[in-house]
Parts: sequence; structure tokens; C-alpha cells
Amino acid sequence: MPGLDFNTSAIQTAESLTARRLEKEIEADTGSDAGIGKTPSARFPEHNRLPYGVYLEWQAMGEQPVSDALAEAARSEGLSLEHIGLTLGTVIHGVDLSEPLSETLINCIRQILLERKVIFFRDQPLTEDQLVQFAERFGELDVFPFGRLGHNPKVIEISHDEARPGSENGWHTDVTWMEAPSLGSIAQALIVPPIGGDTLFADSHAAFRGLPETLQETLLPLSGVHDYRYFLSGLDPIQDAALIEEIKTRIPFGVSHPLVRQHPETGKPALYIHGGFLRHESLFNRDTREPMGEAASQALSKLLLTQHARPELMCRFAWQPGSIAFWDNRAVQHYAASDYYPHARSIRRVTVSGDVPMSWAPS
Ligand code: SIN
Repeated sequence: MPGLDFNTSAIQTAESLTARRLEKEIEADTGSDAGIGKTPSARFPEHNRLPYGVYLEWQAMGEQPVSDALAEAARSEGLSLEHIGLTLGTVIHGVDLSEPLSETLINCIRQILLERKVIFFRDQPLTEDQLVQFAERFGELDVFPFGRLGHNPKVIEISHDEARPGSENGWHTDVTWMEAPSLGSIAQALIVPPIGGDTLFADSHAAFRGLPETLQETLLPLSGVHDYRYFLSGLDPIQDAALIEEIKTRIPFGVSHPLVRQHPETGKPALYIHGGFLRHESLFNRDTREPMGEAASQALSKLLLTQHARPELMCRFAWQPGSIAFWDNRAVQHYAASDYYPHARSIRRVTVSGDVPMSWAPS
């Protein structure tokens, strides 16, 4: 409007919009809060479904961080639980992992992992062997063939410093190139940089629930091929040709997994993708064996990876020496922030064996 300054015109616009909104609320008899009277689903616009996905996961959790039964079991084991995200991430206090742990305590920790997806412990200066002993209480361990082994071959060390900058800064869930990827990973901080070096975790159930329903349906019959080409890219294709061939002969190269995985213990659906191991061009329909086509497959993979990287899905863990993180690879993705160069950061990690991912169908 000529002659009016911006603020005057903005106030007039806001006044007209507010009056119109109030009229609509009175017509619809919805009260002064435009959201009251609407279903939770209707409060979230179609173009911004992700927060609704987080809410749906929260709802699936009974709208509480842990079930009443688990809260009670944790209390009776002397544990106190510090929840750091709405739907994922809990620091467990009140246990010394170097002590012999009873079966009921281990079951309680396992249940906290299942309900919270990633759990943490502080001040646990375990030796390598103690870490392995703790991990073995949750199942067999996988040996990781591409890492720098610790003294115990079930342990790998992931160490970075000025000469070797951090490289785990991509969203992933561990070892999807395996036919039966690890159930969970347990990492212990050895060297923590003075600033930075946090690890972020993102809820794969909320990531799936936060997709538009039509896209969820599209994903259900789809699978993608995963392989460990990413690791081989560190080798010289000519000089290391024989080694590469040997690795491919020993370890199955290329496995397919559903894009939507059913968690084998909780039954919940999760978006199951990996930015590095999933061949973005490889998506196909499991039932018809029809490939999606390269361009469509690339575009869909990119969209899903973007969805899984949204901050609403995350919790963030700041390590201290002796901190331990235990994440459920069937329920979360993780990302080690590489924001501490040139400082050193070192963790040791073990992985608990898992099963072959199952697809999910609504009941
Ligand atoms: C990993 O990606 O498994 C390593 C996680 C970390 O370094 O925090």
C-alpha cells in the first residue's frame, strides 16, 4: 500500500487474518485454540508429517519413555534412568558393568534397550575382555572383518587423529552388507576430544511413521541391494585385485534387505536403509522381481535418506572417557560427528549377532 510503512501494513494484515481465523473457529465451534477439536493427525499439515511420525512412535510407546512394568523393574534393580530424547536414548545410572551381573539385571537392561533403542552408561573403564564379557550376555558376537582389531579379535578400534580424520559421519545402521546384520553395537570411549565428537542417533520407527501414507504403502514391497563396496574403495583396485577377489569369495557380496523392516522383538516397522552400503540404483519389488528403474530408485533412496536425517528423530550423546553406548541396529541409525579435527578420538566396539531382516506388513 503506497504511503504505509512496512510495520503498519504488517499489523493491518495480521489483524485481518486474526479476525478471519476467529470467525472460522466460531463457525466450527472449535474454541480459541485452532487445534482443539481436531484429531492429532489433522493438526499436522500434509507437507510436514515428520513431527507426526515422532508422535505416532511416542503413542506406540504408550506416551511414556518406558512402560510402567519396566520402570518398576529398573527401580527394583537399583537403576535410575535419564531419558535424553522423547522416543529414544536413555542413560542408565546405578550399575557397574565390571561386576558379575545377574540374569534379571541383564534382562532389565535388554528391555530398556528394546524400549529406548539406544542406551548409555557413564564411568565404565572396562578392559577389552570385560567389554566382550558384558556384550556376550546379549548373544553371540560378530567379528568385523574390515576394522583394526583389538587384542581380542571380536573388538575393533575406531581411532582418529591428525593423520586419520574421522569418517563415520554418515547416517547408517551397522553392517547392512551382511545377510544377518548385527542386532546391536556396543561402543566404549577410550579417547574423547576436548570439544566435539558426539554421536547422534535417529529413530528408524519414527522415520517410517513420519512418511506420507501413500509413500509408506509404496515402500512395503520394496527391497534394495547392500554391499561392502564402500570398504573396498579404500583398496587399490589394481594392486589389491587379488585381495579384493579373496574377500568377495569369503564374504557374500551383495545381499538384499527390505526397505521397511519389522523389528523381530517389538514387531514395529522401521525404515531400513544405509547411505553407503545400499546401492541407490538397486531398489526392486520383491514380489514381482521388477526393478524400479535407476532414476526412480536413486530419487527414492535420496528422499528416504533425507527423511531419516531429520533432527526431530534424534538424540545426541556427548562422550566422556569410559562412556558406553549400546544401540539397537534394528531401531536406530547413528552418525559420529566428525567435528573435532585435529584432536584424537578413539572408541572400541563390539557387535552382537542379529538375524535376517524381515519385511513388515500392517496387520
Ligand atoms: C560407528 O559408526 O559404529 C562408530 C560410532 C562412533 O564412533 O561414535
